[in-house]
Amino acid sequence: MKNLQRPALLLVLLIALLLQACQTVGNRAGETRVDGATLYTNHCAACHGVRGWGGVGVPLALADFLKYSSDEYLAMTIRVGRPGRVMPSFSYLKESEVQAIVRHIRDWGPKSPPYIDKVVAGDPAKGGLLFDEYCAHCHGKEAEGGAGTGVSFSRPRHMMIIPPALNNSGFLLSATDEMIKHTITFGRAGTPMKSFRRKGLRRDDINNLVAYIRSFQRQLPPEAGVIIDSTSPVLSVESPYSMDVTIERIKRILADNGHVMIDDWPADRKMADRDQVFFVIKDIYFGNLDAINGPLSLDPRMGLFLPARITLMQQMEGKVKVMMPNPEQYSAIFNNSSLNKMSRIMYEQYQAMLSEVVK
Ligand code: HEC
Ligand code: HEC
Repeated sequence: MKNLQRPALLLVLLIALLLQACQTVGNRAGETRVDGATLYTNHCAACHGVRGWGGVGVPLALADFLKYSSDEYLAMTIRVGRPGRVMPSFSYLKESEVQAIVRHIRDWGPKSPPYIDKVVAGDPAKGGLLFDEYCAHCHGKEAEGGAGTGVSFSRPRHMMIIPPALNNSGFLLSATDEMIKHTITFGRAGTPMKSFRRKGLRRDDINNLVAYIRSFQRQLPPEAGVIIDSTSPVLSVESPYSMDVTIERIKRILADNGHVMIDDWPADRKMADRDQVFFVIKDIYFGNLDAINGPLSLDPRMGLFLPARITLMQQMEGKVKVMMPNPEQYSAIFNNSSLNKMSRIMYEQYQAMLSEVVK
């Protein structure tokens, strides 16, 4: 008996190996295989975590999330993003790539629920009253979502995950009434979003809430998803003063505006352009607690641009140019409406400081 088993086992192994080889050849020949795991790592992991446990973005691997979120919801969310929030739109990905990412996320948990796009009938006015009472302290008075982004260790424990915007065009386009209803009814274990059936809301109450959330689709706030259309990536003025005098003026103006200079290297860095013309360059980094913490609390990635910088540049005997990155560009990068507002304020402050330098 024993002797017979061994060849049989070998045969099974051989067939398995052959099948695998065929599959590999097939994939190579078609060259259409899209690797969802790699795509996810490249496009999503930085925010949602390598295994979907969340980061700047909400967790995607939770059972209660995947149980009530269809593949269609995932795909649409990837395509349209959440305009005005941090979640980007990946409209440039191919359909096959989007589907591969969806399959990768789906591997983490329950299979897709059926896609049922039927209207849940309810009274939005009654839903609005319930929303004020039960939801607004997390999702915001106008369902605009919590300030800031995703999961952060610096947040209070009860706000570890930032409540998403529900009045958001990207969310409303992707989510069906059924999905919203299930999320309110059952909540998402492992997040601050609790089951409101367990908290005592009845079916009618939940239907009214769904109708209220859906009503935002017809009256989205005008600033939703507006990316500030800024003219130039750099704010720049020409100084009528010498390099040394310009630097002294900048120092005084920064101090007058409550900023601290973070470093003070001498202005001796030289750089040659293509025609071998030399420049004198100086970078002045500055900031204060509010100017740094404000933008950081809205999006931790603002750390890339902070502390703020003024660059002075002088070509041979030419005039001194004073330049700063235009903060309005950040709003185009980060897709966050709160950051848009702050960028506008920073832009006005920087402009005012620059015009004072050359006054
Ligand atoms: C720059 C950070 C960032 C990147 C990159 C990003 N996301 Fe998001 N994502 C977010 C944030 C933040 C939210 C929550 C939206 C809100 O706060 O309103 C979100 C929401 C989502 C949601 C909705 C989750 C829910 O609870 O309904 C899905 C699905 C999603 N992202 C998938 C992806 C996928 C897939 C990728 C890659 C193709 C991706 N995201 C890339 C930040 C990001
Ligand atoms: C304690 C804070 C809190 C309260 C109160 C709360 N939510 Fe949430 N809600 C959240 C968080 C956080 C999430 C994101 C969960 C996650 O990571 O998937 C969420 C997710 C949702 C989602 C899914 C959004 C998406 O992008 O997928 C809906 C819909 C929702 N909540 C509706 C409601 C409604 C309606 C109420 C009131 C009845 C409510 N929530 C009360 C914190 C809260």
